[in-house]
Amino acid sequence: MVKQTKTTLPAVDIKAFPTVQITYMTRTAIGKLVENYGIHGSPPKDTACLLICVNGDEGNKYVIPLSAQTRQKNLKEGEFVTGNFKIGSIIFFDEEGNINITSKGELNATVEGDTTITTPNLNLNGNLIVDGTIEATDTITSDVDCISDGISGKGHTHPQGADSHGSVEVDTGAPI
Ligand SMILES: [Fe+2]
Repeated sequence: MVKQTKTTLPAVDIKAFPTVQITYMTRTAIGKLVENYGIHGSPPKDTACLLICVNGDEGNKYVIPLSAQTRQKNLKEGEFVTGNFKIGSIIFFDEEGNINITSKGELNATVEGDTTITTPNLNLNGNLIVDGTIEATDTITSDVDCISDGISGKGHTHPQGADSHGSVEVDTGAPI
């Protein structure tokens, strides 16, 4: 038996299978949520679903959630998108081979091993704050200044002691 239905509550996931509450005809029931291995989600309330009663057994319900109404539509051949369509945070694999990540909140990565990014240029539009050492095998440049422990690389001067005749010398100028 297969019926069209919709969810009436978000999924509950405290047992061996996540379950979801659905309505069909005038009835409310709980069914096991059908998901592919490695993909897990909580369909929002009012998600269209198919209800399957295995072997026609009303006590053995499975629920297959269908496409989200708020999904990214009109994908081109081969494109793929996944994410939280309720809020709009998604990962989109487009037809040109780009992977586009849209986060409506933060983007947090917890990596237990080293991380390597191999790319010609890494462009960051914002501030870079590092809690640790920065090493480079090539030049580090700034259009403004580099500050070393509070000392300006651009504007610092060097004090000079008295000359051999005891005359006080003035500080050097800033680097040119
Ligand atoms: Fe200097």
